Amino acid sequence: MKGIILAGGTGSRLFPATFAVSKQLIPVYDKPMVYYPLSVLMLAGIRDIALISTPRDLPAFKALFGDGRELGLNFTYIEQPQPKGIAQAFILAQDFIAGDNVALILGDNIFYGSGLEEMLLRASALEEGAEIFASRVVNPAAYGVIGFDDKGKPTRITEKPSKPASPWAVTGLYFYDSQVSQIARGLKFSARGELEITDINNAYLEKGLMRVNFMERGIAWLDTGTHEDLIKASTFIESIEARQGIKTACLEAIAFEKGWIDRAALLKRAEGMKGTPYGDYLLNCDAEGLWK
Ligand code: DAU
Repeated sequence: MKGIILAGGTGSRLFPATFAVSKQLIPVYDKPMVYYPLSVLMLAGIRDIALISTPRDLPAFKALFGDGRELGLNFTYIEQPQPKGIAQAFILAQDFIAGDNVALILGDNIFYGSGLEEMLLRASALEEGAEIFASRVVNPAAYGVIGFDDKGKPTRITEKPSKPASPWAVTGLYFYDSQVSQIARGLKFSARGELEITDINNAYLEKGLMRVNFMERGIAWLDTGTHEDLIKASTFIESIEARQGIKTACLEAIAFEKGWIDRAALLKRAEGMKGTPYGDYLLNCDAEGLWK
């Protein structure tokens, strides 16, 4: 399975913070925002990753991840000249996907919780159809919202409904079979001028090929849309990391645990960050014999 991180857009809701820097590169507590969605793809076992961003911001992502080899990954970079919709990712990345199944995650989506890795591994084993993840929110009107029939079966997703049919929002994490690029190519631009991911999801729902995974209370899906959301997300990550002494979205640790890099490669990365909480965390874990 291939993976796509969509990390474009103008970041206009965070101006002036994002005048010169991609939203997905600003820190959430101790690491760039994009580390969190990348860690999700890695936990799902995905190593071939395309990062899609704007012509302005793509060089900064290249500086951050290079070809991905240091993390046991294989990175491809794709430009999205204009933010014409999330579903456009499957058209832009068609050659990269090359007939494989594919997972897409939005570069500003953060997930944390127990059972997440198992849920991701199940979804990445998908053979036909699609899998999406729904989370209960207090402000569903800001998202794609799932409607249900009287037996509780998902029937339709509505993008930013004025009267939400349920509190269940569709999160920015999607797994599809190889049909997705073809479905994307058949879409029409919506009233807001975008190729909508919700239209792709409804196409799979209508064919009876969509599985909705409901993230229960053990899994947190965090917002990064506003400055207040960003502070809350940073505080959340800081408190769980401080309490447990375990770093979340620690890419080197995930790559090591998956067997994609060895101890020497991990320590090389850690040495390069020595004296920072992140680098020292990796070195301390080594001192405790964790990287064997
Ligand atoms: O976060 C989940 C929600 O994401 C879903 O519930 C909605 O169904 C889905 O449409 C989307 O909602 P938004 O309209 O709020 O997404 P937004 O336009 O904020 O874009 C999400 C991220 O994707 C953002 O960080 C920028 C990036 N993006 C977006 C578009 C439209 C791109 O890189 N390129 C694009 O063309």
